[in-house]
Amino acid sequence: METSMIAAGIRRLSVMDMDLDLFEGQYPVPHGVSYNTYLIEDEKTALLDTVDARRQKEWLDGLHDALGEKKLDYLVISHMEPDHSGSIAALCAQQPGMTLVGNAKTFAMLDRFTKDAPLSLPRITVSEGGTLSLGRRTLRFFMAPMVHWPEVMVAYEEEDRLLFSADGFGCFGPVDGDDLWEEEARRYYANIVGKYGTQVQALLKKASALEIDTLCPLHGPALSGEKLARALELYDRWSRWMPQERGVLVAYAGFHGHTAKAAACMTACLRERGESVTLIDLARVNRSYAVGEAFRYDRMVLAATTYDGAYAPAMEAFLSALRHKNLQNRTVALMENGTWAPMAAKHMRAALAEMKNITVLDEQVTICSAMDEKCRLQIAAVADALTR
Ligand code: FEO
Repeated sequence: METSMIAAGIRRLSVMDMDLDLFEGQYPVPHGVSYNTYLIEDEKTALLDTVDARRQKEWLDGLHDALGEKKLDYLVISHMEPDHSGSIAALCAQQPGMTLVGNAKTFAMLDRFTKDAPLSLPRITVSEGGTLSLGRRTLRFFMAPMVHWPEVMVAYEEEDRLLFSADGFGCFGPVDGDDLWEEEARRYYANIVGKYGTQVQALLKKASALEIDTLCPLHGPALSGEKLARALELYDRWSRWMPQERGVLVAYAGFHGHTAKAAACMTACLRERGESVTLIDLARVNRSYAVGEAFRYDRMVLAATTYDGAYAPAMEAFLSALRHKNLQNRTVALMENGTWAPMAAKHMRAALAEMKNITVLDEQVTICSAMDEKCRLQIAAVADALTR
């Protein structure tokens, strides 16, 4: 377990999950993922959240060492998703004198998760603006529904101006992974919270009324100073579905290499024109990376082979993910391939029409089986149109 001091009397107790194959059964975490908890020692002793059951023993041992002779008075439950609630029952067994602190939705979920062995510890139910006094320090709670479950709440500590932000501002990767934060926080945000931009805006509005020196999320590093300012700026952009920066995602799904070759040619053309480009093979790279890049850039080129009268399944799954994440405000160019009846562009256009404020260029590329001069001219014309 990694322990670090957040402020006098406040420690972050964090465990790394380095051998998890897929977070939430969907997202690769090549740099691991941290489960963060926060121990506040005042006249009363409070812990914010627990960890995934996968790292329970390591965390309980570390917590035991951190507490020494002390007992916990409170467990604050910010979020009931099992990566944070998975050790509540085990902690209750070790700390039978503590009181659970949550909101009405927290406890409804807790009871659902513990039907086989209900927890009998006393509870304090808080609501919007409610407080918990620990002595010198007081926690004030704000509801953050759908960031990223309905019961989520954040806690503000006035003395050191800390916001315990639950999943908000969290990222995949190490707890001290500052270099990775922007990339892995965007992939985390786009895939896990991306659909709920409106609710994130509501949380940002509440946060803007607070003096915050440090954000303390349940995954990844604490953020203060310039990193905090950058995190707030990015969250504001991502949650309004506004691009983070100028650039192009070229995403392709093909079968025998010809669509891939055309997508690589498009990438080279765009780079020749000074564009930042990320090229992703949707069939071989986990979709979460492409969704993260779609949230990053202002433009996309989508290249797909015609398949079963429609288009390659990997592209279909990608567009479905973007629709679910409510992606908006982008410009898109299409490339299709087909040996006898190219249909991919027509169907991709229809899928994009279901999304808000997506401009699809009239210029497109049609590859008939393999690249040729006509195709290269179309790619150059699309690259020109995209960069205009
Ligand atoms: Fe980190 Fe929504 O759980």
